[in-house]
Amino acid sequence: MKVLALGGTTFLGRAAVEAALALGHDVTVFNRGVTNPELFPEATKLRGDLLAGELEPLRNGVWDAVIDLDPTTLPWAVRRYLELLAPRIGYYVFVSTLSVYADPSRPINETAPVKQLRESEPPKFRDDLYGELKVGCERAVIRAFGERAVIVRPGLIVGPHDPRGRFTYWVRRIAAGGEVVAPAPPNRPVQLVDVRDLAAWLVRLVEDCRAGVFNATGVAGDLTLGRLPDECRAVSGSDARVIWLEESRLAAAKVTPLELPLWFPASHWPLMEVDVSHALAAGLSFRPIAESIRDTLAWDSAREEPLTVGIGLTAERERELLAT
Ligand SMILES: NC(=O)c1ccc[n+]([C@@H]2O[C@H](COP(=O)([O-])OP(=O)(O)OC[C@H]3O[C@@H](n4cnc5c(N)ncnc54)[C@H](OP(=O)(O)O)[C@@H]3O)[C@@H](O)[C@H]2O)c1
Repeated sequence: MKVLALGGTTFLGRAAVEAALALGHDVTVFNRGVTNPELFPEATKLRGDLLAGELEPLRNGVWDAVIDLDPTTLPWAVRRYLELLAPRIGYYVFVSTLSVYADPSRPINETAPVKQLRESEPPKFRDDLYGELKVGCERAVIRAFGERAVIVRPGLIVGPHDPRGRFTYWVRRIAAGGEVVAPAPPNRPVQLVDVRDLAAWLVRLVEDCRAGVFNATGVAGDLTLGRLPDECRAVSGSDARVIWLEESRLAAAKVTPLELPLWFPASHWPLMEVDVSHALAAGLSFRPIAESIRDTLAWDSAREEPLTVGIGLTAERERELLAT
């Protein structure tokens, strides 16, 4: 099939392009040529800017399917390129997020209410409006493609090349050993999906031309924050010992959720217990967590640049917390 990836060179897009090429599809990537431009010599590369409206290379060409990694997350920008593409595209995969759901304190399946943007669309992406803006982008896709579109709402995506570092922090920290601070209680639910499993499934959706909306993360109840260090220890052979600190103590020390990734307030636990039965029925499958840990650790250990600034406790801060 002729597949156009919008984005395609950082993390999920990169894995999706890899998966599509491995399955013999004829892949075109469209991006600015800034991030990892050397990747995928076998793909056709179109250069432009979805935010700046540099869309010239998209004016011609016919593709069976688009995998849209949504590099802008701005509904007005999405509408602009959809208008251009819609007449020449067979099928559309749009990558959204579980952050679209309005109430993280209630059980979530695909019919749960979504957020509403209560102001005019901003000219630039705003992190505080992430979920609302994704809802607007989803609507634009459904309006343009209807039954020829699938909306995929991933939760936490993990694995090699993750630019965010929320899972990588724990893999790296446990491998380093010693006493590790974690947010109690250990039965805290964790739901995640390996980037390669999700990417392979995106390509399968393309091949099957499935329509609809799908939550896409791990199976609720399969993993807890307590089991994660055990799995990490088994993979890395480290001597790490987890010290579970009560939320009240973390709050008193002004620890932020970014310093302890995967720490959600109890009221938000449903965001880590999302119903994914719809995706399972459509073929989403998962590798063992040990494989995700092993490959993330190997990738993280081999790279030179540090983890994303601001994710995880610094060694000094962790020592302070342990001392108190
Ligand atoms: N990570 C998670 O846990 C998570 C969870 C839920 C949902 N998601 C969603 O997953 C999606 C995939 O993100 P990803 O970073 O992994 O995708 P990706 O496709 O691997 O990387 C982003 C791509 O966008 C391109 N790009 C950036 N700005 C652009 C512009 N103005 N015009 C054209 N191309 C542009 C980048 O290349 P250039 O820089 O060369 O342009 C890069 O190829 C996002 O929509 C995100 O909301 C992620």
